[in-house]
Amino acid sequence: MNLPAHGDAGGKVILLGEHAVVYGRPALVAGVPLRLSVDLQAGVGPRVDSDAVRDDDRPVQLLRAAARHFGIDAGELVATVRSALPPGAGFGSSAALVIATVRAVAAAAGTTLSGKALLRLGRELEATFHGQSSGVDPAAAALGGCFWYALASHAAVGGVPAHRDASDDVEPPCVGSVPLPRPLSLVVARATGPRRTGAAVGGLRERWTADRPRYDALFDRVAAIVARGTAALASGDLPALGRAFDDNQAVLAELGVSSPAIDDLVAVARRAGAFGAKLTGGGAGGAVIALAADPTSLATALAGAGATTQTLVVDATPAVAA
Ligand code: PMV
Repeated sequence: MNLPAHGDAGGKVILLGEHAVVYGRPALVAGVPLRLSVDLQAGVGPRVDSDAVRDDDRPVQLLRAAARHFGIDAGELVATVRSALPPGAGFGSSAALVIATVRAVAAAAGTTLSGKALLRLGRELEATFHGQSSGVDPAAAALGGCFWYALASHAAVGGVPAHRDASDDVEPPCVGSVPLPRPLSLVVARATGPRRTGAAVGGLRERWTADRPRYDALFDRVAAIVARGTAALASGDLPALGRAFDDNQAVLAELGVSSPAIDDLVAVARRAGAFGAKLTGGGAGGAVIALAADPTSLATALAGAGATTQTLVVDATPAVAA
């Protein structure tokens, strides 16, 4: 085994389309400049020492599964995880852990994965954390940059074409890299402590199963909003992107994945003059993202309402489909 070994991965925010993406509609995602790293050393394992995840055996299960995939002995692996991504806040910390772990274990096994294989394995292993998953989070962790993502095949979303190359023989997923005319500053406000995406995804699945026509129509509304928002982002039209945030938030509330704490922060952001605001990720708590001409005064207003805020500049490096 090649030890020590290292792997890392970035966090993300979902700009538009969370939840509907699990049902084949596109989502718009942006990498953020916060990373998670995994360092592997020889020792008595499998063991994971983490500043991010405590009282949780899933990182060890993940290490075991990744070691099995690459045919190495997890019993000899001790992992140290360092993360700038707050867990359970919609920044994709579990997916970043999955991708960083896979990269580190692959390095220990003396191999690397093709982009497509990394996406496939990342999606499979992310199920350890989220149950039913679209794979958008591991894709963001693996690719970085700003892109639309869909499980179903799309030629283009919002005028942004799907990435195609010789390795694109297997769908899903379908990915289109969104060029940013200029860096995008997003204000992120955390409404609550950590919450589990899997519970929100599972609850929505039950409601969808009970009334498919209603929920499929809501997912179609989200798809139209994602197309509009993607076009707005690609052309640098922040007011139009903000309107897409607001419209998406209205549908997310109808889907039953918002929460009183989220609704309050969205209202504060709008009163403070935001172009738009919405939850990001699994919802049912977690974080709100908001767009404004003046991110500093928006962040101050949200902090005044008791939220932990952060202004993040979205990673403008183009994502390249695997
Ligand atoms: O991991 P989070 O909280 O950023 O949310 C994941 C996005 C969902 O659409 C809710 C689930 C999925 O697998 O796409």
